[in-house]
Order: sequence, then C-alpha cells, then structure tokens
Amino acid sequence: MSYCVRIDNTELEFTVNAEESILDAALREGLAFPFNCRSGTCGTCAAKVIEGEVAYPEGRTSALPAAEALGKALLCQAQPLTDLVIEFPRRPPEPFIEPRQLPCRVARIEDLCHDVRRLYLRTPGVERLELFAGQYIDILLQGGRRRSFSLANPPHDNELLELHIRRIPEGEFTSYVFDEIEPETLLRFEGPLGNFYLRENSPNPILMMGGSTGFAPLKGMLEHAFHAGIERPIHLYWGARTRGDLYLDELPQRWAQEHENFQYTPVLSEPEADVDWPGKTGWVHSALLDDYPDLDDFDVYMSGPPAMIEAALDEFIAHGLDPEHLYYDSFEYAA
Ligand code: FES
Repeated sequence: MSYCVRIDNTELEFTVNAEESILDAALREGLAFPFNCRSGTCGTCAAKVIEGEVAYPEGRTSALPAAEALGKALLCQAQPLTDLVIEFPRRPPEPFIEPRQLPCRVARIEDLCHDVRRLYLRTPGVERLELFAGQYIDILLQGGRRRSFSLANPPHDNELLELHIRRIPEGEFTSYVFDEIEPETLLRFEGPLGNFYLRENSPNPILMMGGSTGFAPLKGMLEHAFHAGIERPIHLYWGARTRGDLYLDELPQRWAQEHENFQYTPVLSEPEADVDWPGKTGWVHSALLDDYPDLDDFDVYMSGPPAMIEAALDEFIAHGLDPEHLYYDSFEYAA
C-alpha cells in the first residue's frame, strides 16, 4: 500500500511506500526536508499535516508531544494512513552551514556545580567551526553512537567550543566526562546541527526560557545578541531545582547590569530550606506567564527537558503566542 503526499501551496507530490517514513520518501525524491536525529528526538523534521492522518508504528518518541502541541507530525517517524497534504517543514538556517565531522581535543575542564561540567574543545590547527548561535554538536562514540550537546559559545568566539554537560547516573559518556576525561583527550564530533538559532531579523521582543543546562544554547544566543548590537528587549527566565543548580547565575546577573535591553529572572522549583531565596519559585513557564500574560508579538525561545517544553507549549499558545514565533530545543539529557 502506498500513499500520495502533496506539499501545500506547491505542485510537489511524492509517494510514500508501505513501512516507509514520510521523511525517507521525501529524501528519496530529492526534496531538501530538514532532519537531524532521524529517531524522533530532535524535532527538526516536524511539519504540519493539513489533510490526512499519520501513524507512529515505532511508538511515541520524546519530541512527539511538543510537535503535536504545535499541530505538527514528526516526519522521520510518521507513516501515512491516508493520502496527505503537508506543509514544507521549517528549513534549517539560511545560509545553511554544512555539518562536518571533525576531531577535537579537550582544552579545559571546569566544574560548574555538583553535577554540571563545562568542557572546552579545541578543533585542530586553525580550523574553526562556523555555527549559528544556539546550534548543537553530536559527540561521536564508538559503534556509531552519538551524544548531543548544545554549543554555549557564540559564533564570534569559536576558538574553543563550549559544552555544559550534566552528569547522568550511569550515563556512559557523562560518567566518562566526570570520572575519566582529561585535558588533551581526543574526541570526534559532527556539527553544527539543529534549527534552534536566533532569528536576528525579527522586530519582536524576545523571551527566553531555559531549564537546567538548557541555559547553554541561550547563553550562546545572548552573547551573540550583545555582540551584534541587537537592541530588542530580551528577558531570560532560567529554571532550576535549587540555587546551587543555577550554575552560572552571576553571568546573566552581570549582563542585566551591562545591557539596558536585557532582564534576567531565575526561578527555583525546590529552593533549599536553609537558603534565603528572595526570587521566584515554582514552574519556570508559570513565572514567565505571571509577568507576560499576553504573548502576542513576542518571539519565544525555550530550551530544556521535554517535560518543561511540553508544560509550556500549550499554555504559551493559549496566551496568544504565534506558534511560528516559537522556537524550542527539547532534549533528553545525553547520557
Ligand atoms: Fe525527526 Fe529528529 S529528524 S525528530
């Protein structure tokens, strides 16, 4: 059984064969649909299904709830149940930076808090990785396995690549990072990857929301925005469990002193009983909505674990956010 998929507002059509994903069929036809993981976790391939129905025979993957909240399907996982009309998926940044596989050495290791380490990676010789602020790289492990980490450095500061790595109990790679890795260790990565990057040409004020190490890509975007002289108002909300988990809190505090157009609100979900915390508590997206109940005309960038993204998506849209102005990076912590 095969089905016809038409791309809305175009004459483009292609056929999806039995047991084939929509993405696989589109790529077979030479259509430049964006993708990264092809396993349902990154959300890059999400696109609106305007007519028809799809199924997910491999099950529900971590990026699916967020995609569905925006009325989208994950084309790398979805198979048609009927003929379809779909929108062309959101394209990667223009001009596109072709991902490359490169070796790198660990240049520096810093403990940022009890379970987050910062790794600085040096690419070989004078080789520099071009990137858009907010993109990520995959560390390539033996056996074809990968671990994805956001780049926390902005594009203009790419002599060293900066990763914020959270320790995951019994995580193969993160245990290695916390227990064994040393300066000059040789790694290999592919990048830059992903559609999560700062839309510089929008006129809208910007709200950013990060959960835990979801701060990393937002840091890269903010440092880029300051460097590029972007004057649109920007308000960052950074959610963490405890005060100690806000592992670079002094950095956005300093930015707020230095840049008139920037505000910072940290939010703790479980502040320590013995710590005097005068700031906001609870869910980070609720704190944002307390301050901005009407999200019309904002660009919203959010980065964090799927539970945070899912909790925020429906509510933000219910509060007037245009889904086309919503950009998110939903990640399971790489183990
Ligand atoms: Fe489909 Fe990553 S390419 S979710």
